[in-house]
Amino acid sequence: GSFDCVVLNGTVVTAADIGQYDIGIRDGKIAMLAPRSSLANATADRVIDAQGAFVTPGGVDAHVHLAEPELFGKGRPADDYTSGTKSAVAGGTTTIVAFAPQEKKDASIIPAVEDAARKALNAAYCDYSFHVIVSNPTRQALDEFPLLRERGISSVKIYMTYEALQLRDNQILDVLLQARSTGVTTMIHAENGDMLNWMTEQLESKLLLAPKYHATSRPQLLESEATNRAITLGQLVGAPILIVHVSSPTAAETIRKAQTNGLPVYAETCPQYLFLTRKELEKPGFEGAKCLCAPPPRDGEEDLEGIWRGLQNGTFTILSSDHCPFIYDDAETGKKSAITAEAPLGRFRYVPNGCPGVETRLSLVMSANRLAPSRFVELTSTNPAKLYGLYPQKGALLPGVSDADLTIWYPSSGLAPFAITNDALHHNVDYTPFEGHRVNQWPRYTLVRGKVVWDRDNGGVVGEKGYGRFTRRDRSFFCQEELPPWDVEQW
Ligand code: URP
Ligand code: ZN
Ligand code: ZN
Repeated sequence: GSFDCVVLNGTVVTAADIGQYDIGIRDGKIAMLAPRSSLANATADRVIDAQGAFVTPGGVDAHVHLAEPELFGKGRPADDYTSGTKSAVAGGTTTIVAFAPQEKKDASIIPAVEDAARKALNAAYCDYSFHVIVSNPTRQALDEFPLLRERGISSVKIYMTYEALQLRDNQILDVLLQARSTGVTTMIHAENGDMLNWMTEQLESKLLLAPKYHATSRPQLLESEATNRAITLGQLVGAPILIVHVSSPTAAETIRKAQTNGLPVYAETCPQYLFLTRKELEKPGFEGAKCLCAPPPRDGEEDLEGIWRGLQNGTFTILSSDHCPFIYDDAETGKKSAITAEAPLGRFRYVPNGCPGVETRLSLVMSANRLAPSRFVELTSTNPAKLYGLYPQKGALLPGVSDADLTIWYPSSGLAPFAITNDALHHNVDYTPFEGHRVNQWPRYTLVRGKVVWDRDNGGVVGEKGYGRFTRRDRSFFCQEELPPWDVEQW
């Protein structure tokens, strides 16, 4: 047969298998997966030779902040759907799930979805979907969960911190119960907001304001407390939960224990908790603000090791970027800098939380070479697709079924180690927290639905703004059965 594109001679890695296969692509789908050399003479408009290189399903980044309104009263993410997804494809990611935040003044969650849809329409380089941030779980908002499902959205995020977003435990239970009965997955930001506000006041009263005190204000203890509480609340109503951006090995152990007890608890971590420590926040002057995110980078190497262990032993289900970029040196707003006359070093309290990372996620983790190739694919593509109902359209290479979203790497011999520099990245941000980190792998080609959108050696980003589509999602692949109604009398 003839194909639109063939990828020859590669080592194809999926979450399940690794082997030498040629790939035939037709009409944006994987059309054929055949033993090496069998497509060598096939007719194709485009032939890509992947000799010696890994070919993986395109990255799925399920935690990306783009074009959000002022969320925490501290500034808005610097990337929109265009710059953010351009950065994504340049880093090998073919699908992102971004956030559609409900404003606390709204009783409904539908305006949030419509606002995000409007911003993303005709703007993206890669495929996308939205998680709805529920900040005001009114009866109306809860009743709208089935409408989300009809619109192809099957997840919400809730917060246990940030004044503008924090829910009380009874509100969390309302969300979890409704999510359970409507096939929605709940993502939880687990930090104890009251504890960290109190800690912040203690620090400020002693004029301890520099970026490093951001970490002091939110120790592991308060992440563990919230994680344990989130799991307990989920257990009360029997709802599956996903703890986002886990930074603390202690919290990871709490999650592991819950999983061992059979609870449907899933967990996410991010490169910042694998590669950055508190040292970065302690850099002189205000430099530390570049790595200021929540939860913060933890104390030392043992903490990083604890998170790597969680990736290896199965505690973590997915590895996302939590790309949440702010301009560091914004002359106009001074937002990232938050430097005032009384606090020339800036006050950590006013620094927006979050770092960019959608482009560096896959390269950093692949280059670290600490995960088996199939586990790498599982954590960065297949599991996020499964967890959020995109599988097997995304995250897999099933002929006739999966979209032809591919990341094609350099031959393992091919790339001399080099340092990540912000100059080489495509986001709309003036720094990367990973400046200087050495890597030896980077995606050579990225294909979205069969079309080459990133060709590192020939044109860079060659895709088009607006090519990316909204991708409908179903209920989580990890929870395919409708759950029986919850009954208070079971307690
Ligand atoms: O610091 C972070 N993670 N900012 C992004 C917002 C969030 O809570 O994910
Ligand atoms: Zn969060
Ligand atoms: Zn986030």
